[in-house]
Amino acid sequence: DRPKPLSGKTAIVTSGPTHEPIDPVRYIANRSSGKQGHAIAAALASLGARVTLVSGPVTIGDPPGVSTVHVESAREMLKAVEKHLPADIAVMVAAVADWRTAGESGEKIKKKKGEQPPALKLTENPDILKTVGHHQHRPGLVVGFAAETQNLIDNARAKLERKGADFIVANDVSPETGIMGGDRNNVRIVTADGVEDWPEMDKRNVANRLAQEIARRF
Ligand code: C5P
Repeated sequence: DRPKPLSGKTAIVTSGPTHEPIDPVRYIANRSSGKQGHAIAAALASLGARVTLVSGPVTIGDPPGVSTVHVESAREMLKAVEKHLPADIAVMVAAVADWRTAGESGEKIKKKKGEQPPALKLTENPDILKTVGHHQHRPGLVVGFAAETQNLIDNARAKLERKGADFIVANDVSPETGIMGGDRNNVRIVTADGVEDWPEMDKRNVANRLAQEIARRF
């Protein structure tokens, strides 16, 4: 067997949404199928990397050849990611909820007749990509995503800087694109060197091409 391009390398991938509990039966979540993140984990593994996938709650199965850790909230996701550092590669694909409730209720919040609906008080979640991008064990290659509905490239460039990433994979997730939850994706790769437009393709092909691009950097 020929050695694979990422043999001996370790990678951490986040995927899926996070669920932030309101009480034992309710949560706040982002929309994410996990399809793109799971495909990237599988693609890196197929190039020989030892991959840990940290996945929020999704309905798709664990990808083959990858060690998958299941988490619910952003704080759990961060803890699982940090536990697997140092690593050579980090690809943060998860749609992490920016906020969680300020005080999770231990008991189910009951509806009371004649009372106003409860107000949710929110507090900021940790930014996992930003934490990894500035970590003392920062991986040699850090990749983030930017799902936007407007000002795609400007937002992606700002994210590259702010989050300490080497690549930002930018995609327009406006509802009319059908990308959210769909099987296809149309991305642009934003690096310090510029922007590269990739044609629309299957999320699996985006994953394979990204994994090859990552391998080229080593
Ligand atoms: O800031 P925004 O959420 O648009 O950034 C998207 C990128 O940051 C994605 O790579 C996502 O996985 C990552 N992210 C994160 N933790 C957060 C928010 C975003 O890792 N709390």
